[in-house]
Amino acid sequence: MDQTTAPLERAPVAAWSPTSWQGAIAAQQPDWPDEGHLARVLKHLCTQPPLVFAGEARALSAQLASVSRGEAVLLQAGDCAESMAAFSADVVRDKLKVILQMAAVLTYSAGVPSVKVGRIAGQFAKPRSSPTEVQHGVELPAFRGHMVNDLPFTPEARTPDPERLAGAYRQASATMHLLRSFTKGGYADLSQVHQWTTDFVASSAEGRRYEALAAEIDRAMDFMHACGFDIASAPNLHEVDFFTSHEALVLGYEEALTRQDPLTGRWYDGSAHFLWVGERTRQVDGAHVEFLRGVANPVGCKLGPASTPAEAVALCEALDPDRTPGRLTFVARMGTKLVRDVLPPLVAAVRAAGHPVVWACDPMHGNTFTSATGRKTRHFEDVVDEVAGFFEVHRALDSWPGGIHVELTGEDVTECVGGSESLTEIDLDDRYETMCDPRLNARQSLDLAFRVAELLRQ
Ligand code: PEP
Ligand code: CO
Repeated sequence: MDQTTAPLERAPVAAWSPTSWQGAIAAQQPDWPDEGHLARVLKHLCTQPPLVFAGEARALSAQLASVSRGEAVLLQAGDCAESMAAFSADVVRDKLKVILQMAAVLTYSAGVPSVKVGRIAGQFAKPRSSPTEVQHGVELPAFRGHMVNDLPFTPEARTPDPERLAGAYRQASATMHLLRSFTKGGYADLSQVHQWTTDFVASSAEGRRYEALAAEIDRAMDFMHACGFDIASAPNLHEVDFFTSHEALVLGYEEALTRQDPLTGRWYDGSAHFLWVGERTRQVDGAHVEFLRGVANPVGCKLGPASTPAEAVALCEALDPDRTPGRLTFVARMGTKLVRDVLPPLVAAVRAAGHPVVWACDPMHGNTFTSATGRKTRHFEDVVDEVAGFFEVHRALDSWPGGIHVELTGEDVTECVGGSESLTEIDLDDRYETMCDPRLNARQSLDLAFRVAELLRQ
């Protein structure tokens, strides 16, 4: 038999360990200037407590399994890159507020539970299209996120500093602490549904629409109470499960926080509940896939417009060999022009291969362009249209459009154009604060949630 017609034999699965990724090619890693310094910081991180626990990661897997069955939607949202400079309790609270509002809109208007996952408490490292940046003839390392270096265009700021790994851990830990207090300590109580609106949102069209919905939620609660339902002792009405996630990019950091769960003997990456591999690092034989295949957390993988069905199936085999519902989420980021053409064969191939993945739509990363004023931006209507295309594709294939993955902030920024305030390219200069990609502001985020709820209801 010649090579091409020989039946495919399944290669034996190679042994995995938290360090096995080191034997593969790791794209997008910083050029640390002092390996000894890096080793000392990583050794210290190995001694630190994990930020999340195995049982919590398993709870998220169970919720994502319900998404894969079409019984819930995933709402994954947060910064493109978290900032160590603009960190405060208010910033975390405002981001949480807008995500809680979006979740209330999705759940109440569409009648589907939402699984809430932040791009938060660890989203500090960025892949870049070029390892260096040139300004006025000077070449310096590219900014790779606050886990690695800093934004100002100076040799000091741009040189990767391993101490930042420890700084990222400390900020992630403080953020985690705040999130746990907010979500379990009364702030996320449904009776607070009116309090989640920030002042600058309240006066807007979305703000008023939200207020009307919040009033309906109040009436629904009163109704249940009047029917004798014991609202006070129903925990689901008083606290929410809120999970953390980030791109598992700097693999030394992820390895250092990976621990073996004494209960199950399985390895969990304790840096976040959910980790994903980005569009630039998803090589099936690369170090990032190698690392993620061995951790028992639920994992994700971005799929850009050049993805092929064969690649998607190979990624499923590597990351979800046992076909476990909730284990793998594909985050499609095709761009509004391509989603309707590129996504269908991927969905069909993955289904034919029997993998029960969650499909989420990232309508941000395929729709970035540079404005005439030189700002990296996205148009709100492109974002909405990509989500609509994603829904159309799934509906046509009788597949569940599992959710959305978006970059947003709770602040009143001007980074994406369009939306009900009709932000223009000129307006971008007002409050353009992102360290990396342009985010939806709180009004645009709420508007998007209403649009997605309408799509879910159809
Ligand atoms: C991101 O999510 O910020 C990102 C870099 O995405 P992608 O890997 O899809 O380009
Ligand atoms: Co981004």
